[in-house]
Amino acid sequence: MKKQILSGIQPSGILTLGNYLGALRNWVKIQDEYDCKFFIADLHAITVSQDPETLRQNTKNVIMQYIASGLDPEKNTIFVQSHVHEHAELGWILNCTAYMGELSRMTQYKDKSKKQDNIKVGLFDYPVLMAADILLYDADFVPVGEDQRQHLELTRDVAQRFNNTYNKEIFKIPEPFIQKETGRIMSLQDPTKKMSKSDSNKDGFISLLDPREEIVRKVKKAVTDSENVIRYSDDKPGIKNLMNIYSAITDKNYEEIEAEFKDAGYGEFKLAVANTIADSLEPIQAKFNELNAPENNNYLNSILARGAKEASLIASKKVAEVKEAVGFLGK
Ligand code: TRP
Repeated sequence: MKKQILSGIQPSGILTLGNYLGALRNWVKIQDEYDCKFFIADLHAITVSQDPETLRQNTKNVIMQYIASGLDPEKNTIFVQSHVHEHAELGWILNCTAYMGELSRMTQYKDKSKKQDNIKVGLFDYPVLMAADILLYDADFVPVGEDQRQHLELTRDVAQRFNNTYNKEIFKIPEPFIQKETGRIMSLQDPTKKMSKSDSNKDGFISLLDPREEIVRKVKKAVTDSENVIRYSDDKPGIKNLMNIYSAITDKNYEEIEAEFKDAGYGEFKLAVANTIADSLEPIQAKFNELNAPENNNYLNSILARGAKEASLIASKKVAEVKEAVGFLGK
């Protein structure tokens, strides 16, 4: 039996180079070895305000970007979270296991709630929904970035507590899945912050769909120091970030990159980074455009319908077990 892997990305924008290098590209590498489920976390996306039409389009785009990046719908279960109502259902039940105290300690909540006035209950509760996502499918491993580690820890605690409360091994306790570290991909405009598709400063991220000119423009504009020497150092977060990106794509290490650009200034280095990014995104964009053609709409819908069906089958069994354990009267 292959081990189970589950992960998801929120459709809160067009996926970025950070999503690709930090997540998607790694998922593609493991799709043969594991039984993988990859979903689009639309229930999570509405924890902050979304324009409905944009959300719908972004959801479609993320599905196409999954496939265009190399996730094979024949090998993986690809689905939309809101198509499987058990996520919300188990989320509620786990709300009655999770503690206010532990949710209050989530650093992502603290960060995000600082930036808003009317904070939604859903934003606070988000990690419980994430726990439900994971626990529904008996995931052995969850590939997540550093920023989601704490949520996975919470998932483990909630699962353990639920199992103890009802004295039954209902939930498998998931582990983080560690893959070869890509240095974290940071915002081009503020290299101390993670590159984010929901950044209000559009120059901070490179979208997987940006044309070459746009990539060149954004990388040229990237914030750096004024030393004009390509050298890897924590004191040079902008250059470090560009080196990380270049390294992730070319597989060259920092010494090799320093040697390659030892006589170059930032202008030349940035142009090389931008063109390397554009080259690596070109085939993804071509595949995306193909999927996006109207005649492929039915194909995409059929993938999602099948994904939802496969996921629902597993999720509904788990929820039935949970309902039995907590003492709900059967139908
Ligand atoms: N919270 C994750 C993020 O923003 C997305 C997500 C939702 C997720 N549910 C998940 C990731 C379950 C892994 C497993 O990146």
